[in-house]
Amino acid sequence: MRKILVLVLLGLVSMMALAACSGGGSTAAGPGDVARGKGLYNQKTLGPKSTEGCVSCHVYDESGGKAEKAPYTKGTGTRAASRVPGMSAEAYVRESIVKPDAYVVEGFNKGDMYQFWEKDLTPQQMNDLIAYILSEK
Ligand code: HEC
Repeated sequence: MRKILVLVLLGLVSMMALAACSGGGSTAAGPGDVARGKGLYNQKTLGPKSTEGCVSCHVYDESGGKAEKAPYTKGTGTRAASRVPGMSAEAYVRESIVKPDAYVVEGFNKGDMYQFWEKDLTPQQMNDLIAYILSEK
């Protein structure tokens, strides 16, 4: 009888551990989804602090006005491949969101982009956003 109780307890503990891992762990996220990423990118606010979303600074292309606050979104997927020598498009886009000041696009300033997306967004949301931006050739 005691053995069964121990087994049940062990099972419960491991289930709880698994649940904890899937809730915001860094490796639990699946591949990025372009449509979901587009939805996130176009949200007015993002994250638990309702930070101004990407489109509050990034304009899609010339038809949306001048790229005053941030680079145009269109073409980022293409530019990303050659921004930093030796860095893949995906790695560049990820870095641009996680550590915007690591590479500052000409004509813009250090610190202009919000610096805490990695904390505010889930790993899955990050993957989705990156997939969308990479698809914008
Ligand atoms: C407060 C304004 C602001 C917000 C909000 C913002 N960005 Fe930016 N972003 C910038 C600025 C300014 C730059 C250019 C300076 C730099 O490279 O850090 C930039 C650069 C980028 C680049 C690199 C573009 C290139 O041509 O190399 C990517 C990718 C990017 N942002 C993605 C995002 C995503 C995704 C979001 C939303 C989660 C977002 N940004 C939200 C201001 C913003």
